[in-house]
Amino acid sequence: MPARILNGNLIRDQILSELRAELETLESRGLRPGLAAVLVGHNPASEIYVRNKIKACQALGLYSEKIAPPESVSTEDMLALVAELNRRDEIDGILVQLPLPPQVDSKRVLLAVDPAKDVDGFHPTNLGCLVTQRPGLVACTPAGILEILKRSGIPIAGRRAVVIGRSDIVGKPVALLLLHENATVTICHSKTQDLAAVAREADILVAALGRPAMVTRDFIRPGSTVIDVGMNRLDQAADVERIFAGQPAKIEEFRQKGAVLVGDAHPGDVAACAGAYTPVPGGVGPLTIAMLMSNTVKAARLRRGGPHGPR
Ligand code: GUN
Repeated sequence: MPARILNGNLIRDQILSELRAELETLESRGLRPGLAAVLVGHNPASEIYVRNKIKACQALGLYSEKIAPPESVSTEDMLALVAELNRRDEIDGILVQLPLPPQVDSKRVLLAVDPAKDVDGFHPTNLGCLVTQRPGLVACTPAGILEILKRSGIPIAGRRAVVIGRSDIVGKPVALLLLHENATVTICHSKTQDLAAVAREADILVAALGRPAMVTRDFIRPGSTVIDVGMNRLDQAADVERIFAGQPAKIEEFRQKGAVLVGDAHPGDVAACAGAYTPVPGGVGPLTIAMLMSNTVKAARLRRGGPHGPR
């Protein structure tokens, strides 16, 4: 039986249409949620991500603001900027796009964001709320992965989940979310021995290691669900021809654009072995932005909705 493709664009659209209904309620009470995105310098990937986040705000009718300090910005300048955004009442969500340049102390900057406006869910207060199952703002990609699984009817409770990658942004929080849904969770990383054998135990395999097409058929238990968090840009013909052998349309796309995207899972192997999987692009990526919108609306409701808020 062919693998089921978990279409992130459709799930994103569902979430955004639910948010529109909630926004109407907030608007009727004179409240328009606002997001400030801070983008330092000219990292090409970050520029695309922030552009897409601002576009999503505009499409949904949220207020948005892009703040673009120069590459040479200091930690003190960043702290002053965050303090100003914390103070402004019309800003509900603050997003500091990572990575920051090396002279900036990223941990100090993220710690300075008001946890009530931390729509990325990166503040230790929000991470602590996640660990202890208290209400808070949850990191967007992990929250989006749970939405994909739940809205696709993939069972989690009692299942084996294996997360490859232990970042603060994806690996650790998604492992906690799966644990709270009663999965039996294993977190793997670069020092894990016989990674493929551990991965093969998974009913749900989350690939968040940041290595193009590294999760091959020997990692995938037949029929399991594979969630691919990777977004790797391939710009070498040899890599594209090896990874996309037998997919002339992709090779043609590479010839025209000079680069193509691939996830952390091998696209041919995951389609052949998994029971269900998220494609790249069009899987997890759209959910990250949908959950950022959702967190911004939630932050506005919690912070400014007052005691008679909609929920
Ligand atoms: N850099 C890569 N992913 C993310 C993200 O989800 N949020 C922010 N702020 N920066 C990132």
